Amino acid sequence: MSTAGSSDRPKADSLRPLRTLWPFIRPYAATLIAAMAALLLASAAMLAMPVALRYLIDSGFASQNAASMERYFIWFLAASLVFSVFAALRYYLVTWLGERVVADIRNAVYDRVIRMDPAFFEITRSGEVLSRLTTDTTLVQSISGTGLSIALRSVLSLVGGLIMLVWTSPRMAVYTLVGIVVVVLPVIVVGRYIRSLSRQSQDRVADTSGLAGETLNAMQTVQAFTLEDLQAQRYAGAVKASFQTAVRRIRMNAVLVAVAFVLVFCMLTLFLWAGSRAVQTGEMSGGQLAQFLMYAFFVGSAATALSSLWGEIQRAAGAMERLTELLHARPNITAPAQPLALPGEVRGQIAFEHVVFSYPSRPDERALDDFTLSVEPGETVAIVGPSGAGKSTSFQLLLRFYDLQSGRIRIDDIDITRLDPRALRRVVGLVPQETVLFGESAMENIRYGRPAASDEEVKEAARLAAADRFIERLPEGYETYLGERGTRLSGGQRQRIAIARAILKDPPILLLDEATSSLDAESERLVQAALDGLMKNRTTLVIAHRLATVKKVNRILVLDHGRLEAVGSHEALVENSPLYAQLAELQFGGV
Ligand SMILES: Nc1ncnc2c1ncn2[C@@H]1O[C@H](COP(=O)(O)OP(=O)(O)O)[C@@H](O)[C@H]1O
Ligand SMILES: [Mg+2]
Repeated sequence: MSTAGSSDRPKADSLRPLRTLWPFIRPYAATLIAAMAALLLASAAMLAMPVALRYLIDSGFASQNAASMERYFIWFLAASLVFSVFAALRYYLVTWLGERVVADIRNAVYDRVIRMDPAFFEITRSGEVLSRLTTDTTLVQSISGTGLSIALRSVLSLVGGLIMLVWTSPRMAVYTLVGIVVVVLPVIVVGRYIRSLSRQSQDRVADTSGLAGETLNAMQTVQAFTLEDLQAQRYAGAVKASFQTAVRRIRMNAVLVAVAFVLVFCMLTLFLWAGSRAVQTGEMSGGQLAQFLMYAFFVGSAATALSSLWGEIQRAAGAMERLTELLHARPNITAPAQPLALPGEVRGQIAFEHVVFSYPSRPDERALDDFTLSVEPGETVAIVGPSGAGKSTSFQLLLRFYDLQSGRIRIDDIDITRLDPRALRRVVGLVPQETVLFGESAMENIRYGRPAASDEEVKEAARLAAADRFIERLPEGYETYLGERGTRLSGGQRQRIAIARAILKDPPILLLDEATSSLDAESERLVQAALDGLMKNRTTLVIAHRLATVKKVNRILVLDHGRLEAVGSHEALVENSPLYAQLAELQFGGV
């Protein structure tokens, strides 16, 4: 330990993040105290064993007194029994604590991340969050569980062993200290180098999994372009790099082990030699020598354990720092201190007032520029425009996924920034362009619309969304597992699931990002009928891709480059807006 102390100062700072572990450990203080008690008892028993051994040898062998020999055997056995039981108990409690703490950290991080707004995910890759949730927590786990157990045990046996060594023979204790420094010093120096190699090796492993993840998520693209060979080569290249880095680490480790063993056995020989001389000259008894060797062994292995643990503790501190960063992340979009309440019966009036908005990652480009729109309760308004015009952006802003640069959005005359975003989102239903299905049954997937809904209500919603017939034809009906990415359903079927969700949610305001690309004529007819039912009696904004939709709507907005180009009915716009006329011809398939 004294050797590690010399380089302690710069690292004291790097260990600070471990303090953030305390709030997670505190709830289990009782377990921690029990673990400490077990640790103390186990260590005391362990330190008592060499004393028993000494008396066993000295009075047993030397005086040939059978009765006292038996007594020391019983002592020795009792000490080893106490040690075994409490060592096991300590192991159980401390490891339990480690697992519990890490489980709580995982929950806390996930709970935090899932509340972040889209701007956060634009700068933080979801893969990074995933790796923090798994790799970083595992690092913390290794030290807060077994690592902590080893550290505590080693500190106690190091300190206790040293005291007992001095008590056994002060001169030999000094030798031991010198010996330990000689052995531990190279372990620390080389260990630092090995650690940097092992970090590199981990980065290379992360590369390979990143590469594999990328291709596994796009299997069909890979195969459609017959890129299998190319991807296999890229993967093999990454694996090779990771293997080579690992080999460098292993080689260094092997050298270290060899050096450490040579040093340890040299020391041991030296001790034995000095010890036997001391026994010969009568300075020490044979029992004392045995006792001394046992303590030296305790102290030496504790020092080695601590020095190799040191690196792991530092890595865990780094991991904890990254986790704390996530734990301290705060969404930009939050509820005001005193949020206003929406009326119990939301009428569904919407007003965009001179809205100017740029995405955080593209501050110079206005996704919406001076956008003004007022929608009356129950009205349906269609938004059309070329791709990238800002149509979906207007929905994201209404749901308050981002805040505006200037302007205002109001619902029922209340500025949406004065509402709790969750209260706001409860009254708005979104049928997105791409339906996300979760890895659960069809029943549960629809129930996401309103988690409290009964099975009957879910089925009714599916019927209204024209989804009941295809769901009932699935292998297990409503209980059919839809697969992680819903690959077992066609685009039109997925969209009807999304519509069923919205019907179940029954929101006063409905946002439809209508997609036609994935629909054949038959599903389009079914989806259209479902949508007509859904739009009835509620305020609806629809991003329209279908002639059938726009023709029915009195007011159509034409958006281009974030600006409102024209407003009117289909007939009026075909006359007055060249952009609309062009869109109508290209997108809606004729006028
Ligand atoms: N998350 C984002 N970050 C940065 N730019 C975005 C983001 N989402 C959309 N954009 C950009 O904002 C503009 C409007 O996009 P969007 O509203 O999705 O268009 P669309 O009318 O096709 O729905 C486009 O130029 C698009 O590239
Ligand atoms: Mg869009």
